[in-house]
Amino acid sequence: MKLTKSIALILTVLLTACTLFGCAGSHRISGTAKKGVLTLATSADFPPYEFYDGEQIVGIDVEIAQAIADYLGWKLQVEDMDFNAIVPSVQNGKYDIGMAGLTVDADRDLVVDFSDSYATGIQAIIVPEGSPITCCDDLLNNIGKYKIGVQLATTGDIYACDDFGTENVEEYSKCGDAILALTAGKIDAVILDKEPAKAFVATNSGLKLLDTEYTVENYAIIAAEGNSELLAKINEALDALKKDGTIDQIVAKYINAD
Ligand code: ARG
Repeated sequence: MKLTKSIALILTVLLTACTLFGCAGSHRISGTAKKGVLTLATSADFPPYEFYDGEQIVGIDVEIAQAIADYLGWKLQVEDMDFNAIVPSVQNGKYDIGMAGLTVDADRDLVVDFSDSYATGIQAIIVPEGSPITCCDDLLNNIGKYKIGVQLATTGDIYACDDFGTENVEEYSKCGDAILALTAGKIDAVILDKEPAKAFVATNSGLKLLDTEYTVENYAIIAAEGNSELLAKINEALDALKKDGTIDQIVAKYINAD
């Protein structure tokens, strides 16, 4: 009788502790992560952060997400979509996290929550070789003269529309389509994050990257607003992966220090 009571007491204490503090392995987190699967929304048109290697989506973000999932003991499921669908589909809980070289931005912060930053991004300018555009000021001092291509809903899109007027900005769902339009002579410049810009210039002849930097930004992971339990775990994992050198190793695999 006494023994049964003690067992009952121990069980009650354990149950209360689990309810209050969460139990290892029980993943009581909203969204699919509670089933041990972390779903990731990305736009795999953005080398070296996310891109297709044959049928497979690879890149810095995908590997960091996998390392986070491994750290937390979850499986990772990656879903490719147009960039402009990422924030809304994480906001409405369809996917647990979004990771796509996503810049920390005040407007996005109103509808989703950001993790700690894991990388720096730079908005750069790509022009055809031989273009009269040699720096950012050539665009700013000649508004209306040039058509500028951007990826829809990116920070490059937002800044370009602010600086040059929407009538001078061509929006494309995929980065690659903006690059195609540039090589076809339909637009005069593309504003894009620097590392992807370098990758596109390397694989498309006749293009060059300007030296001037348009803006400097921070990349972070997004989760639905108020999902602080998931974000805390992501931040804990990010911190551990920064400290043990995993993030640096992943970045070094894809980006040569220069
Ligand atoms: N850093 C920019 C932004 O957050 C562009 C990101 C584009 N990412 C992509 N996977 N296509 O708006």
